[in-house]
Amino acid sequence: MDADAQKKAAGEAAAALVEPGMVVGLGTGSTAAWFVKALAARQIDILGVPTSLATAQLAESLGLRLGELGPVKSIDLTVDGADEIGPALALIKGGGAALLREKLVWEASRRCVVIADGAKQVKALGQFPLPIEVVTFGHETTALRLCDALAECDLGVAPRLRMKDGVPVRTDGGNLIYDAACGRIEEPAALADALKSVTGVVDHGLFLDLADQALVGTPQGVVTLEP
Ligand code: 5RP
Repeated sequence: MDADAQKKAAGEAAAALVEPGMVVGLGTGSTAAWFVKALAARQIDILGVPTSLATAQLAESLGLRLGELGPVKSIDLTVDGADEIGPALALIKGGGAALLREKLVWEASRRCVVIADGAKQVKALGQFPLPIEVVTFGHETTALRLCDALAECDLGVAPRLRMKDGVPVRTDGGNLIYDAACGRIEEPAALADALKSVTGVVDHGLFLDLADQALVGTPQGVVTLEP
């Protein structure tokens, strides 16, 4: 099974967890897209809460009924992808620049299930550059403060502004993303606190103590992980 087949298998396994009448958080990315497709194929009545405009578009095109976080206050189950799954289901997310809306939806959810292909499972977080969402105003200065915060955590790395086609990537909320190639994150919780203390940082891609379960596609089939 190649990576895409593993993502599809994980997405389908997660779709089987959804029960009629549930409010379901819909993640972002290629694995979450497999989940959304498998969920729509079940043709059960659910209310989906998308974590990005891209997911909203996909879900709508497949006929899913959608609501928005805010008017919808509580979510039964959220299913979403990840860039890295570390020990205790600590995650790096945000490769698709949707980390803020994802985290808001995750935190409003009673249960969160992360789905991924086997390559996402790691012994320690940090090989995947950690996405950090910052406001546009003064972002170059915020990036300098981020260097200080990372250095305090013994991570001598300068975050890089994420670009695509020669222009900075914008999140759905209009913010910018900096990526910090940390290498190995020894203390994710301390790093999360340090990053959040920088004015101008909206949020970061460390998802700690949020995932209740992981469904990971492997060549042998889908494996279930608990924290
Ligand atoms: C988007 C995310 C995605 O879930 C993450 O990047 C994984 O994407 P994919 O399933 O395409 O590998 O966090 O912000």
